[in-house]
Amino acid sequence: MTAGSVGSVPDRNLALELVRVTEAAALASARWVGRGDKNAADQAAVDGMRAILDTVAMAGVVVIGEGEKDEAPMLYNGEKVGNGHPPEVDVAVDPLEGTRLTSVGQPNAIAVIAVAERGTMFFPGAAVYMDKIACGAEVVDAIDIDASPEENVRRTAEAKGVKASDVAVVVLDRSRNEKLIGGLRECGAKVMLITDGDVAPAIAAANPWRPVDLMMGIGGTPEGVIAAAAVKSLGGAVQGRLWPRDEDERTKLAKAGFDVDRVLTTDDLVGGDNIFVAATGVTDGALLEGVRYTPEGAVTDSMVMRSRSGTVRRVQAWHAFEKLSKLSGREYR
Ligand code: FBP
Repeated sequence: MTAGSVGSVPDRNLALELVRVTEAAALASARWVGRGDKNAADQAAVDGMRAILDTVAMAGVVVIGEGEKDEAPMLYNGEKVGNGHPPEVDVAVDPLEGTRLTSVGQPNAIAVIAVAERGTMFFPGAAVYMDKIACGAEVVDAIDIDASPEENVRRTAEAKGVKASDVAVVVLDRSRNEKLIGGLRECGAKVMLITDGDVAPAIAAANPWRPVDLMMGIGGTPEGVIAAAAVKSLGGAVQGRLWPRDEDERTKLAKAGFDVDRVLTTDDLVGGDNIFVAATGVTDGALLEGVRYTPEGAVTDSMVMRSRSGTVRRVQAWHAFEKLSKLSGREYR
């Protein structure tokens, strides 16, 4: 069917509206890059995101937000966002993924939002950590979270037609990932350690133009859900398994109804097939460029994704602060 013929009228791409939300969060938090105050950076991102979010035509409920209502005055889990009009959706936000990265001026901090049909997003509850593997389309059938690191690298190399020593794996530098890091180095993979921020590298792993093949290791559960939403547009996969920190947490999660032994697939993390994701760079990184300032304002670099169509856009935006301040009544600087 050609564009414009009967029945082919493209429906709305919510992600094109959501990118304004992540741009606002990135613009607000980027002023805190390198200033050593991660809480201020995070608060600025939340305020920036919140100011635009309610202009988006959707009836959203935050499934992944800044935490429980008592500790998060805005964007708390369960909060209603959007202007209340259909579609009814679940919303996952990370106004500033990489608060510390921002505060010390390191790469890979992004602002990100994911939206999916109501009731289709995995609710992480008190499950703080998850063991994860993220990969791109060619490797989807090769990865297996139950297999050893060596086996996953071997299969990835085979699927991509490269040597094991060409496989670049991003891992969070944490003692809980030590065994994984050892195994990966043992088989000759290139291990790229990061101090924080595993969402951008997970999305980069699913992006054939980025220099990352896999993102592996134990990191945040909410971040795993957001990464899964993004890879659904890119054609990759995320596999995960909840990682309770101790027996007490394991028991609590089991009591809350979580099956901690279950392997969670991309579809378990985000079901549904109409998922929208927007992400904007705060600092330069594996996926996006950070906010750049100009005499008139700033330039942002974003990705806009929709799973149903599989369209992934890169959006570069020029923001004119004086005009924006006049128009919105909020200060842009
Ligand atoms: P922020 O919440 O400070 O932005 O940190 C995000 C992050 O680095 C994630 O990318 C990662 O999944 C998680 O925190 C790791 O958690 P921890 O720092 O507790 O190991």
